[in-house]
Amino acid sequence: MSRSFVRFAAAMALALGLAAGAVAQTAAPASTAAPTPAAAPAAAQQPAAPPGASTLPGYLQQSNGERAKVQPGNNAPMWRQLKEQAGFSSLPNPEAGVLIQPQTAYPGSAFTSAGEAWRQTRNLLLIPVGGWLLILAALGIAAFYLLRGKIKLQHKPTGRKIERFTPFERFMHWALAISFVVLAVSGIVMMFGKFFLLPVLGSALFGWLTYGLKTLHNFIGPLFAISLVIVLLTFVRDNLPSKSDLAWLAKGGGLFGGGEVPSARFNAGEKIWFWVGVLVFGLVAVGSGLVLDKLVPNLAYARGTMQVAEIVHAVSTILLMAMAFGHIYIGSIGTEGALDGMRTGYVDESWARQHHALWLDDIQSGKIPAQRSGPKAQAPLPVVKPKA
Ligand code: HEM
Repeated sequence: MSRSFVRFAAAMALALGLAAGAVAQTAAPASTAAPTPAAAPAAAQQPAAPPGASTLPGYLQQSNGERAKVQPGNNAPMWRQLKEQAGFSSLPNPEAGVLIQPQTAYPGSAFTSAGEAWRQTRNLLLIPVGGWLLILAALGIAAFYLLRGKIKLQHKPTGRKIERFTPFERFMHWALAISFVVLAVSGIVMMFGKFFLLPVLGSALFGWLTYGLKTLHNFIGPLFAISLVIVLLTFVRDNLPSKSDLAWLAKGGGLFGGGEVPSARFNAGEKIWFWVGVLVFGLVAVGSGLVLDKLVPNLAYARGTMQVAEIVHAVSTILLMAMAFGHIYIGSIGTEGALDGMRTGYVDESWARQHHALWLDDIQSGKIPAQRSGPKAQAPLPVVKPKA
């Protein structure tokens, strides 16, 4: 078994342990927040000591001065004492009087504190796995582009334009997309910047850049949250599952050849992006982000809470970014004419026939108005069925 696999498995077990431990810590009432001596369980295995004598092993009974004599420079006793002290603070935070996060027991693990366990989970698990996932997603899209190429319009544009998105839908989409890009870039710099920017910029510049981007990230997060909820409500109706989705999925949407499968306003691929990417990963990212921003009322912001929130935030945002790469590619350079809909609000009839034939049928039969925005008096655009 390779050493990296063992590290990976240990970090996985640790992540689960950390989540369970932190939840237990957070759930404890403030009066029990004072840590118990970490070595107490170990004492149970010691031979019976005379009454009144300490049951702790000798090295745990050494004072800082005594330790310094045998191991100059080792001030572990001082730090151990600090961890076991609950101080007093008038601040409302339940952990305000605790200088160092208490030790938490992870059976079989070498970690001395929950803080260290979180740090290692982030550095040994989230950063390498998350980083590789993003790189693989980008490489997968590049390979798809090289093998499949751009999805071109099969018929000449007719010149007849159909309203695909109202100005409100476009405004909300771009508010979401722009805030997402700012969050994604700043998040990537915070998480991975030390590998590719620090060596180029040097520590002073990198420090200022990361500090600036982190502050921007904290403020843009709530804007993303608001636009996400509005976009979800705006597009939910046309993303409800329908029978035609099964045929679309069975043929992979015709993306790899065999002609595109007729779909309604949004195809099954777009619906997966909507429900899994935007709704699940988006909402989890927003929820955990609001905890990290300390914007959730009546929550005890203990260290354990923040560590779990950070892990949940990193996992959900990496999955969201990986899916967003695909969405951005298909919506821009991957499909001829797709961006026109989001840029101008209108698509050509040929584009609608090729990519969303069932939606065009509904427009042509009068089930859906061809024009949904603008003054009511405006006559609907003439829609003529093209010759086969
Ligand atoms: C910045 C890069 C982005 C580009 C270029 C882009 C492009 C597009 C385009 C062209 C469409 C219309 C597709 C069609 O006509 O069927 C669209 C729809 C949509 N986009 Fe984006 N988008 C971007 C980012 C995002 C982000 C970050 C999100 C969400 C987190 C998002 C969520 C949506 C949603 C919900 C729809 C409606 C269709 C559906 O439900 O799948 N977009 N986008």
